[in-house]
Amino acid sequence: EAGALWGGRFAGGPSPELAALSKSTQFDWQLAAYDIAGSRAHAKALAAAGYLAPDELDGMLAALDALDADVASGAFEAAESDEDVHSALERGLIERAGTELGGKLRAGRSRNDQIATLVRLYLRDHAGAIAERIIALIDAIAAQADAHPAAILPGRTHLQHAQPVLLAHHLLAHCWPLVRDLERLADWDARANVSPYGSGALAGSTLGLDPMLVARELGFARSSENSIDGTAARDVVAEFAYVAAQVGVDLSRFAEEIILWNTREFGFVTLDDSYSTGSSIMPQKKNPDIAELTRGKAGRLIGNLTGLLSTLKGLPLAYNRDLQEDKEPVFDAVTTLEVVLPAFTGMVATMRFHTDRMAELAPQGFSLATDVAEWLVKQRVPFRDAHEITGNLVKYAEERGIELSEVDDAGLASVSPHLTPEVRSVLTIEGSVASRDNVGGTAPQRVAEQLAALTERVRAV
Ligand code: ARG
Repeated sequence: EAGALWGGRFAGGPSPELAALSKSTQFDWQLAAYDIAGSRAHAKALAAAGYLAPDELDGMLAALDALDADVASGAFEAAESDEDVHSALERGLIERAGTELGGKLRAGRSRNDQIATLVRLYLRDHAGAIAERIIALIDAIAAQADAHPAAILPGRTHLQHAQPVLLAHHLLAHCWPLVRDLERLADWDARANVSPYGSGALAGSTLGLDPMLVARELGFARSSENSIDGTAARDVVAEFAYVAAQVGVDLSRFAEEIILWNTREFGFVTLDDSYSTGSSIMPQKKNPDIAELTRGKAGRLIGNLTGLLSTLKGLPLAYNRDLQEDKEPVFDAVTTLEVVLPAFTGMVATMRFHTDRMAELAPQGFSLATDVAEWLVKQRVPFRDAHEITGNLVKYAEERGIELSEVDDAGLASVSPHLTPEVRSVLTIEGSVASRDNVGGTAPQRVAEQLAALTERVRAV
């Protein structure tokens, strides 16, 4: 059987049905370059332990380099009969190094420790690329905040007008979760930075190979302290899927707002034509598909995480073939983020804000009522009474169909003697925003400091 890694004790080859179910080259081929890197490192460990003579090591490394080049160029591909990437590459190695030399490489390793190592190599590589794309998005959001230092947005809770805030403050509120996602990726890497190579099938090896030699060659800081854990654990893979899902959810919440802001009713933003789509029937339509796809892909990323956790839930130690199902969810998570993040970033970078419209709506809905209540507190009215008085003022204005700033002196006095005309000093959106000047508040000076702190945090990751 060409390429099979097992078969000695079998009467014949696998049935076509088994082969079809078992086959994984259609997705694990993405690990080919990492598999070859692992083989180079393993060859060095075999040589260090005396199982390959120096010239054999040279021949092995040359054959692996040739195979690597042929994989990269597409000259070497998985064959129909190859069960997985490991079988295919051993076939390719033997074609290049001969049966005798090529047949020596597999000593002391198992596909179980190989695959556990390769997934980590793949994820650590892509985590770097994803982190860069997250940073690009943070930069794009922060640049919009920086470009609109004075714009005021109706801040909402329960989607109802609550208190005016700076647009920049709101935009930066979408940056902080992404900063934490970056930090999560960095934290994750501390746990992913361990090589399972050397764990063998589950119990280690009798050959005296040095797992740390392989770990160092592959850029890991340590090798697994327990060979069973090394081959059977996938929590590091699931944790990556969680971080990817969290990024998806963080983007999705912003996406939802952009979709709302882009409606005629809100009218807060216009999306650039090159980041919008049309309708096949309604000629006037311009749709926020990037934001919608981002929101939709968040569901997919959550599905990848829950699917993977479900696969792991009932598995006894050590390796079980179920573990082959760990790869497609995280590969999909990586590909999904790698297409979503740049599109979302482009949309945000080119989005135009209609700050007049935001400013017009910001004071509506009695969003300055808290300012009135806190002004009363500054006049030494107990907050309980201040809250009650302001509530009465809101009722007074609502009954007359006017805003708080439009209540005249007599009206104010009729609600409460504490409501002197001076209260109007806090009834502007600019004054309201400027007066929330505690650390973390929405006052322009604080938001400028926040932007600087954010930039610093991103640089420190
Ligand atoms: N393709 C398998 C996986 O992805 C690795 C091979 C281990 N196979 C085995 N029969 N022990 O997990």
